[in-house]
Amino acid sequence: MACVSRLSFTAIASIFIVCALDRISGQISYSVPEEMKEGSFVGNIAQDLGLSALQLSARKFQLSPDDGGRYMKVSFDNGVLSIFERIDRERICGQTDICTIPFEIMLENPLEVLHGELVILDVNDNSPTFRESRIEFQISEAISPGVRFRLESAEDPDIGINNVVDYAISSSEYFSLKSRRTDEGIVIAELLLEKSLDRELRSSFQLVLTATDGGIPQRSGTAQILINVVDINDNPPVFEKDVYKFSISENAPKSSLLMKVKANDLDEGLNADLTYSFSGLTLQRVHGVFSLVPETGEIVIEGHLDFEESNSYSLDIQAVDHGSPAITGHTKVLIKVIDVNDNAPEIKVKSLTNQIPENAPPGTFITLINVIDRDSGQNGQVNCEIPRDLPFMLQVSSTNYKLIVSEKLDRETVSEYTINVSAWDFGSPSLSTNKTIYITVTDINDNAPRFAELAYNVYVAENNAPGASIFTVTASDTDLEQNSYVSYSILDNHIQNLPVSTYININYMNGTIYALRSFDYEELKSFKIHVQARDAGVPPLSSRATVHVIILDQNDNAPVIVSPSEQSGSAALEILPQSAGQGYLVTNIMATDVDSGQNARLFYHMVKATDPSLFIIGQTSGEIRTQRKIVQADLTTQTLVILVKDNGQPSLSSTVTIHITILQNTSETLTKNSNLVNNPEYLSDINLYLLVIFSCTSIVFLLIIIVLIGIKCKQDRNKPQEYTSPSYCYERENMQDTFNRRSALEETLRYPGTDQVGRVPGLPQYSVCLSPESAKSDFLFLKPCGPAIFQAQS
Ligand SMILES: *[C@@H]1O[C@H](CO)[C@@H](O)[C@H](O)[C@H]1NC(C)=O
Ligand SMILES: *[C@@H]1O[C@H](CO)[C@@H](O)[C@H](O)[C@H]1NC(C)=O
Ligand SMILES: *[C@@H]1O[C@H](CO)[C@@H](O)[C@H](O)[C@H]1NC(C)=O
Repeated sequence: MACVSRLSFTAIASIFIVCALDRISGQISYSVPEEMKEGSFVGNIAQDLGLSALQLSARKFQLSPDDGGRYMKVSFDNGVLSIFERIDRERICGQTDICTIPFEIMLENPLEVLHGELVILDVNDNSPTFRESRIEFQISEAISPGVRFRLESAEDPDIGINNVVDYAISSSEYFSLKSRRTDEGIVIAELLLEKSLDRELRSSFQLVLTATDGGIPQRSGTAQILINVVDINDNPPVFEKDVYKFSISENAPKSSLLMKVKANDLDEGLNADLTYSFSGLTLQRVHGVFSLVPETGEIVIEGHLDFEESNSYSLDIQAVDHGSPAITGHTKVLIKVIDVNDNAPEIKVKSLTNQIPENAPPGTFITLINVIDRDSGQNGQVNCEIPRDLPFMLQVSSTNYKLIVSEKLDRETVSEYTINVSAWDFGSPSLSTNKTIYITVTDINDNAPRFAELAYNVYVAENNAPGASIFTVTASDTDLEQNSYVSYSILDNHIQNLPVSTYININYMNGTIYALRSFDYEELKSFKIHVQARDAGVPPLSSRATVHVIILDQNDNAPVIVSPSEQSGSAALEILPQSAGQGYLVTNIMATDVDSGQNARLFYHMVKATDPSLFIIGQTSGEIRTQRKIVQADLTTQTLVILVKDNGQPSLSSTVTIHITILQNTSETLTKNSNLVNNPEYLSDINLYLLVIFSCTSIVFLLIIIVLIGIKCKQDRNKPQEYTSPSYCYERENMQDTFNRRSALEETLRYPGTDQVGRVPGLPQYSVCLSPESAKSDFLFLKPCGPAIFQAQS
């Protein structure tokens, strides 16, 4: 591409070239610089051929349109050859040194063909160019200074001096450019490394490479050189801290992130790609507790932190880059574990036995209690207590506690203690532990057997069956086992001067009391024995109670008629004066009954009379009186049979037969008889006697009733008391029994070989003889029973 200023220069050059036209060769030759403007002068062909301008047209001057003819035209006015079309030397000839374009001229008259050539002269119309405008280089930082890197050459289609003659780069302290010319005239540019590279300092360079040619004016072309410094693994990983310190409480949860270590590597890429790990210096025990994330350097709690196990950890950590060879960096992590109150106190009971005798005095040592807390400081300080309401206390002895007895014990009150030992530390929050100690209080024979009552009243109906049990005393002992095994015995030796063994016996195992004989109320109304209950402890303890045996009366004695007395073998005799009027007291039947109470309450009946209309008997008084006046017609001898019957159940009775003789005017006899009847002394004697007997029996009866009511009341109050019930029942049964055994009793009465039948001393002795029939029919026949009775009496 030509510019105006260059054109003038080209024109001058072309003139010079035209001058050099070689005419001698006979060939027409013109030289023109390339890139001449259209119409530019090439040469004066008319002149050069020696022709005038007119001749040119006359001879039909013609340029062959091939080759050079294309680029030129001829002016027929002045014969000047000028540029018809712009000529680019590089297009037509390339890099050829000399560029000529042949052309042909044809003339007629005569026909002439002339050959010419157009020499195209090079003009510096092209700048040097690089194939790539960006040239990239990778240079390792390891390469030492002095090394040269050949650069790609620039191209310039111009030739000769117009071609590339030199290179230059922008200034850099690391690089310089060296260019040299080969023998072939080619200029080679080389980049020289002046100074060691450090990627970590500067990782890339941008230089401008300039190629210049030698044309006038000079032309140049540039390219960017981009130099990347390639990293080599020349930097170690460096941790941010030489030593990391960290505190963590021991209750930090598992898998939580503890901290992060970080190392930096100035290299890049794999050389800066780090992997973290525990170094060989790290103790094995750390591995289970902490783990390290290799990629990130995060330290994670892997296991269980326990201040009590280890209160600090030292971790040696390394970071290795992935360079080849790899470089390793190290650091240390110091982890302090902070104590947390995570351990409750432990209570250890160092006990050999948990038994303590109840008589252990206050202060007796029971067991040692050891309390420990694995925490430290406040968290590890402990206090220990037991409830205050127990008869035990804790005594501090150095690091232990002694459990001792603080009050008197009584197994019978509390035989087992559950002691809640409670220990807590002073941490915040405080932790506590409870432990239960069981203490058994062992028995000591400190309790005597105890009777339910100090005195027992036992009622036994007389005529009881010998050998039958009458009562059971029971004593209980609150002690245990052997100390509570109770045996019974009777302390007395004699009862009424007879060995006690003839009366009564006690089962030493269960306290059942047996009557060994049949009691007779009329002989023995009550007696006392002392029973003892003794336990089997060592030494044994005992206690005693009084058993008051009260014998209850039974209707086992028939009334005895005292007066009027029957003469031996015959009836009693009474005399009645004929003059006796109505209501005359004939006689008073007197009878006694050794039984007591109702059994001794007597009723009088007249069961047989010669003339029932004449006499009447007072049912309770026993007085026989006349019912009417005695008349002449009445028989002089009247016979009465009087039945005396007691009120027992069943009742017993006796009869007396009285012969009453009615006397006529026998005033003497009458007087005597009435004197007898009216004799106050006599009467008062008998009456007094009867009164005393009656009063006595009444009082005894009354007393019995009172006592019975009293016992009944007491039983009702104490109900239910099992020990009384059996005896009560027994008594009733026994009574029933006794009634059932009536026939046996009858036999006893009839054959008084035994001393069962009681007598009233000082009175005529009668025996009531009962036949089975009479028992049934309530008829009683009173008669002497023969010498047997008197035998027994004497
Ligand atoms: C003792 O501890 C047990 C169990 O913890 C509990 O059932 C009992 O009620 C406690 N006794 C006392 C007297 O505190
Ligand atoms: C121990 O007993 C105390 C008092 O009874 C109670 O406050 C505490 O919670 C108990 N501790 C444990 C661990 O059961
Ligand atoms: C006492 O023991 C005797 C003999 O073993 C027995 O017959 C009696 O029924 C017992 N008494 C009681 C109240 O158990």
